[in-house]
Amino acid sequence: MRAGVFARPAVPLVTRLADTRRPNSKEELESRIDAQVAHRLPDIGRLVSLPHTMYTLLGLLMDETTLPKELEKVLEQDPALAAKVISLSNSAFYGLATPVSTIERAILIIGFKELEFMAMGLGLSETFDLSQVPRGFDGEGLWLHCLSVSWIARELAIITRASDPSEAMISGLLHELGIIILVSKFPQQFQQLLELTDAGVPFFEAEASLGLSHTVIGYLLARHWNLPEVFQEGILYHHSPRSCPGRKETAALVCLSDSLAHKAGYPMRMEELEIDLPWLMETLDIRPSTLQAFAKVIMASLPQAQPVWLQMMRSGARRESRDQKGRFSALMDGTQPMDFPRRRTGK
Ligand SMILES: [Fe+2]
Ligand SMILES: [Fe+2]
Repeated sequence: MRAGVFARPAVPLVTRLADTRRPNSKEELESRIDAQVAHRLPDIGRLVSLPHTMYTLLGLLMDETTLPKELEKVLEQDPALAAKVISLSNSAFYGLATPVSTIERAILIIGFKELEFMAMGLGLSETFDLSQVPRGFDGEGLWLHCLSVSWIARELAIITRASDPSEAMISGLLHELGIIILVSKFPQQFQQLLELTDAGVPFFEAEASLGLSHTVIGYLLARHWNLPEVFQEGILYHHSPRSCPGRKETAALVCLSDSLAHKAGYPMRMEELEIDLPWLMETLDIRPSTLQAFAKVIMASLPQAQPVWLQMMRSGARRESRDQKGRFSALMDGTQPMDFPRRRTGK
């Protein structure tokens, strides 16, 4: 992120969390955010680490020179994950005449991109178990929302060429990371948020008043995990892409995909989205007729994918609870710097 941009307030949620004095630098802004969230959610970084397999997968997906063989190798080193990917490949959604039994064959028949999506979705659902969530919250609905935004963002990146499709897919998958963390790791604090929204307080006001802005919390964890800045920004700016100091196009893709997912029936129910559609269309260089046609395709295809996504989430969650000390669940020290390859954007 460019430090200069942080000379002015970035997004309302961030400025509400911080004091009203303008931060002089990115570091100052971040230390204020840290202080606020650290107060509400102590030890967030220690409590939530990213499994090593997820780091490896992210690294592979961010590298445009990655070959299918390399994805195959990562999955083969994690037999349980590989078995799930194969099982999902054989679901009715893919309509295979002959069942696949190896990762190599799944990549060949279903395609590298689909396998990427599956592996990331499974990995995330294994990291965060949303089967036990505070009463009144729909954990599966949150997963379906994240997966649909991820899928839409990837397709939108392909037609607009505004961002690399894999980058858009991962940004979409991670955009509600803050909510996922709150729900799965801080249920008591999330319960307070639910009580306020149940009492009629708008979601964004409720989270700001509690110092629990989901964009900031997700951003802090993504930064702690040392994820590429484009993902950190996608999380922090998914409701305010205009303020994004870096890859505006990717933040805009996530924002528009978020809105399309809501319209298609896969919302993050607590949020009421307000988007600047003309700005989004201009930034993504997409015409109204193209967007309309795209939305129609999305509405028709998302329900078809839903059963396989539910299967993905449920198998991930079951494994997490069964295999707390398993190899995939072995937590890595999140402070260890990771070297993610830089990826070119489509434009
Ligand atoms: Fe959000
Ligand atoms: Fe969302």
